[in-house]
Amino acid sequence: MCVREMKQIPVVSLDKINKSFPLAIGGEQQVLFDINIDIQPGEFVAIMGPSGSGKSTCMNIIGALDAATSGIYKLYGRDITTMTADELANVRNEYIGFVFQNFNLLPKRNILDNVMLPLMYRGLPMSERISRAKEMLKFVGLDKFETYFPTQLSGGMKQRVAIARALAGDPKIILADEPTGALDSKMGNEILKFFKKLNKDLGITIIMITHEFDIASYADRIIHIYDGRIVYDGPVPKSESVLMRAEQKAHKK
Ligand SMILES: Nc1ncnc2c1ncn2[C@@H]1O[C@H](COP(=O)(O)OP(=O)(O)OP(=O)(O)O)[C@@H](O)[C@H]1O
Ligand SMILES: [Mg+2]
Repeated sequence: MCVREMKQIPVVSLDKINKSFPLAIGGEQQVLFDINIDIQPGEFVAIMGPSGSGKSTCMNIIGALDAATSGIYKLYGRDITTMTADELANVRNEYIGFVFQNFNLLPKRNILDNVMLPLMYRGLPMSERISRAKEMLKFVGLDKFETYFPTQLSGGMKQRVAIARALAGDPKIILADEPTGALDSKMGNEILKFFKKLNKDLGITIIMITHEFDIASYADRIIHIYDGRIVYDGPVPKSESVLMRAEQKAHKK
């Protein structure tokens, strides 16, 4: 087989993933139903859907933070369903950079320390950790702020620090859950343009969770989840009404 015919290994491959949570009153609630997703290296994908549709549950599974109830999840071709907690922590640290809505920065550590955090488990000498963190802060345009603390920065700057931290470990994937949710629209746009740049210039695969179409439109592909099921998976449609119609169609079933 010539190289061109070889199929790339998906970065993320979810095969018939189901997820249920136990209910306090007994029994369980199924939140994800037969989710099939393949994401190829270098894609910029938005996982979109209304509140409570199962986006974060899906992200937690993709990020190896939570296990599916059934189905197979392969990260870079490796079945992680059967991994131990330690193995999962290693996989997360090696492959995934997380960006959260509320930045999740350590308030008592300065910006440089925050960015160095994921490098702690890499066995790198301190001098290398520092130079890598400095390089990342420069990349996000915050090299002048190394000694600042998170409270001294604006929301948009905090999110850029979080992106620098996510990039420090040289991840294959950036997983971002509502990354602009705590920002005003100007700062939000700035962060989204930044994601676009990371994707186009560095080829990093980006998986972004959002409930807003305008935000999802920055991606190249939208996976729309409704009531725990995928109702649309394709390029960004011209209008949100396409996604709404897909929801209505699923609702009638
Ligand atoms: N740890 C948990 N235990 C029990 N139920 C949960 C748990 N996490 C999520 N759920 C339930 O799963 C469903 C989907 O939740 P999820 O957080 O994935 O939605 P979401 O699409 O991310 O919503 P939002 O846009 O509000 O963040 C909800 O009904 C929620 O109550
Ligand atoms: Mg959520």
